[in-house]
Amino acid sequence: MLEGAPPVTSPIDIFTGKKTFITGHTGFKGSWLTLWLSLIGSHVYGYSLPAAAESHYNIVGIKEYLHDELLADIRDRDILKKVLMEFRPDVIFHFAAQPLVTYGYLNPRETHDVNIMGTIALLEAIRENGQPVIVIIVTSDKCYAVEGRTSCFQESDRLGGSDPYSASKAAVEIICESYRCSYFTPEKLNEHQIALATVRAGNVIGGGDFASDRIIPDMFRSIVAKEPIILRNPQAIRPWQHVLEPLYGYLLLASTLLTTREETFCSAFNFGPDSNDCLTVQELIDRFIGAWPEKCAKPVVKSSDFHETPVLNLSVEKSRDILGWSPLWKNQQAIEKTANWYYDYLYNGNLVSSRSIQDIIEYMDLVK
Ligand SMILES: NC(=O)c1ccc[n+]([C@@H]2O[C@H](COP(=O)([O-])OP(=O)(O)OC[C@H]3O[C@@H](n4cnc5c(N)ncnc54)[C@H](O)[C@@H]3O)[C@@H](O)[C@H]2O)c1
Repeated sequence: MLEGAPPVTSPIDIFTGKKTFITGHTGFKGSWLTLWLSLIGSHVYGYSLPAAAESHYNIVGIKEYLHDELLADIRDRDILKKVLMEFRPDVIFHFAAQPLVTYGYLNPRETHDVNIMGTIALLEAIRENGQPVIVIIVTSDKCYAVEGRTSCFQESDRLGGSDPYSASKAAVEIICESYRCSYFTPEKLNEHQIALATVRAGNVIGGGDFASDRIIPDMFRSIVAKEPIILRNPQAIRPWQHVLEPLYGYLLLASTLLTTREETFCSAFNFGPDSNDCLTVQELIDRFIGAWPEKCAKPVVKSSDFHETPVLNLSVEKSRDILGWSPLWKNQQAIEKTANWYYDYLYNGNLVSSRSIQDIIEYMDLVK
């Protein structure tokens, strides 16, 4: 366990000494989870494409926290088989994907290929190796058939997706269900010992996201350029959350599977904010500007060429009831933590990695 690690008194203590395999560890969510798991004493193996030069991975120095890493394509089943056979993880978290809606509109074939065939390559490697393991596959809140609906989505709701990214994530959900029915049957978990669950979170915020066409990275770039941010759908409502919130949900789900091996947990779980804590894009940006220590230019509204769902909310009843998970930071707090991270990155570069660690420690204090 590393210096600065939170004291060991939470439901995820079970990860201490366990081997975890994270695909997409160079990305935004994967790099935060790598840091967190390493802080609580897990041996983390990362598998991804190389990180972008400006990324949470590079800024925080995530490589230092890894047991090992392999920079390779998620669609390469043979390499996956080999590294999984050698490393023998207790838990696999699958983040590697093309994660952007706009990029998906422009590159539908690549989006489907990476998201669907990448997941199939991983599932095939797991099936062919046949080693006992807990597998958490990260899909999205966008996997549901929206059809003008404004009420919260439950895990049993119909899957859909009116754009390539959303459709690819719905497809991954269906594929996982087929693997559960065909090979990793929850009722026979004691025999095959491969537990497969999927997780559907909303839009996450937090320090270190530099993706294009995402609202917080766009806001940060507009601050750096001293130009107003352009809002394309200011009234769109999204289930924003700090990145640590769903990550804690994924950890809790995996730790519950590790300890109970109960079939109920081999299923899909939503993670999102309380229904009374969802914000519009405009509200999110207004609050971010309020939390930024300096004056920022006012946002400008321009219409978008692509359709975006006006309202997207998740019901978190199942995660609350059977996992005991619930959101711990209100959106205001999540926005302030995010603004502080980017402010440190801009003006106090040497403080920024301790800021990520500090965020995790503060979150862990609440979990206790
Ligand atoms: N960020 C969000 O708001 C959000 C919301 C819901 C779901 N998700 C899902 O969470 C996961 C992680 O998202 P993120 O925001 O961290 O994205 P990101 O772009 O920051 O990270 C993506 C990761 O996937 C890896 N990757 C991409 N293509 C690959 C390939 N062909 N082979 C190997 N690795 C590859 C990248 O190297 C990177 O490590 C994705 O599955 C995404 O769909 C994200």
